[in-house]
Amino acid sequence: MGEKVTLLHGDCLDKLKGLDDCSVDAVVTDPPAGIAFMGKDWDKDKGGRDEWIAWMESVAVECLRVIKPGGHALVWAIPRTSHWTGMAWENAGWAPRDKVYHIFGSGFPKSLNIEKQIEDPTLSKQWEGWGTSLKPNAEEWWLFRKPIETTVAENVLKHGTGALNIDGCRIKTDEKLVVNKLEKWSGFGQEKRPDYEMTENTKGRWPSHVVLDDSPEVVSMFPVSKDGVAHGSNASAGNVYGGGKGLKVEDKDGKSVGYGGEGSAARFFYCAKANQTDRNEGCENITPKKQDLSRKEGNPGGDNPRNRGVKVRNNSHPTIKPIALMSWLCRLITPPNGLVLDPFMGSGSTGKGAIQEGFRFIGIEKEAEYFEIAKARLTHQQEKKHIEEINKTQDTTDLFEE
Ligand SMILES: C[S@@+](CC[C@H](N)C(=O)[O-])C[C@H]1O[C@@H](n2cnc3c(N)ncnc32)[C@H](O)[C@@H]1O
Repeated sequence: MGEKVTLLHGDCLDKLKGLDDCSVDAVVTDPPAGIAFMGKDWDKDKGGRDEWIAWMESVAVECLRVIKPGGHALVWAIPRTSHWTGMAWENAGWAPRDKVYHIFGSGFPKSLNIEKQIEDPTLSKQWEGWGTSLKPNAEEWWLFRKPIETTVAENVLKHGTGALNIDGCRIKTDEKLVVNKLEKWSGFGQEKRPDYEMTENTKGRWPSHVVLDDSPEVVSMFPVSKDGVAHGSNASAGNVYGGGKGLKVEDKDGKSVGYGGEGSAARFFYCAKANQTDRNEGCENITPKKQDLSRKEGNPGGDNPRNRGVKVRNNSHPTIKPIALMSWLCRLITPPNGLVLDPFMGSGSTGKGAIQEGFRFIGIEKEAEYFEIAKARLTHQQEKKHIEEINKTQDTTDLFEE
C-alpha cells in the first residue's frame, strides 16, 4: 500500500520470518488472550497454558529478532492471562519495563448467578447475590524493551531506539504545574532535599501508567479535590505527576507551595472507546455482518444498552481499539519516521494510529475477513492523512503569503 504501509495476509510466524533482522523500530500489538473470546478459534489456548505461552514466545522471539536494539514493544493483555503474555515475551528475551492500564466503563460482568444454578429453592435462597466474576474495567499494555547494546544514549544515537517520547505524550493541562526551588521538603519523612529542585513545567503532565475512558463511571472515580488530600483511588496516583495533592510540599518559609496534581481525572490521558466512525470509516464497500453482542457468556457488549443485542456492522471485528489510544501508544515508543509492526493486526487499529502519527507500518493478519477490513480502513486513513498534510501545507503557505 505505497511506500509506507505493508499489509501481510497469513500466519504471523511465517510472515515475520520474511522480515530482516533489526529492521523495525517499534512493536504495538493487541494479540489473542487465550480465552476463546466469543468462541473465536484465533483466541483459543492452543491446548493449555504452557502451549499458549510457548506459542506466544515463538512469536515474541521473531519480533525480538526484527526489532532494533533498544526498540520497545507495547503488548495488550487482560488481567486474567496477562502473566502468560508477560512470561512469553520475557522468556523470548524482551525486558519488561512497565505497564499501561487502560481503565474503561463499558465492560459487563459475565458472571454465573449461583442462586439460579441451584434448583432446590430452600438451598438456592442463601446464595442470592453470589456470582463468579468481577466487572471488567481494565486492560493492560505490557511495555517491553529489547536489551540496549551499551548505554541508552549511545543506543539512541546509533539506532534511534531505546527511549520513550515523554514530551510527545504529555497530557495537556491549563493548570500551572509548580515550580519552586525547595529548601525544605517534608515528603517521605525527610526534612530536607536540597538536591530536589522543581522547575516550572509548561509542557503538560508526564505520561503515566493510567489511561482512562470518558465514561461517567470512570470519571467519577477521580473527583476533583481542592483540599490537598487525595481521594479514593486517587490516593496512590497523587504523586504520579511529581506533585499531587497527597504530597505536602512547603517553601523555605514553611508556606504550602501551590502546585498542580489536584485530584481529578484530567490528570490522565483520556481515551474514549472507538466510536462508529472510527470503527467503520473506509469500510463502506465491505459487506456488513451481523454481530451478536447480547449478554451471553464470552460476548462483548458493555453496560451501555445501545451496545446490546445483534448489531450489523461493516467492521465486524469484535475487539477493535480506539485510534486515539493507538496513536498515543505508537507515539510513545516510536522514533520520528519509524516503522511500527503489528503481528496481530485484526482490523488494523494499530495501523490507523501509526499512519495518523506519520510512521511507517507493517501489519500481519491471518483471517481473510479481518485482513480485508484492515486494508479498507488503512487505505482510508492514508487518504485522510494525505489530505490533512495538504491542508497543513496550504495553511503555512497562506501564512507566509500574508
Ligand atoms: C485481538 S485481535 C486484534 C484486533 C485489533 N486490535 C483491531 O483493532 O482490530 C487479534 C488478531 O490476531 C489475529 N491472529 C491470531 N493468531 C494469529 C496468527 N498466528 N497470525 C496472524 N494473525 C493472528 C486474529 O485473527 C485477530 O484478528
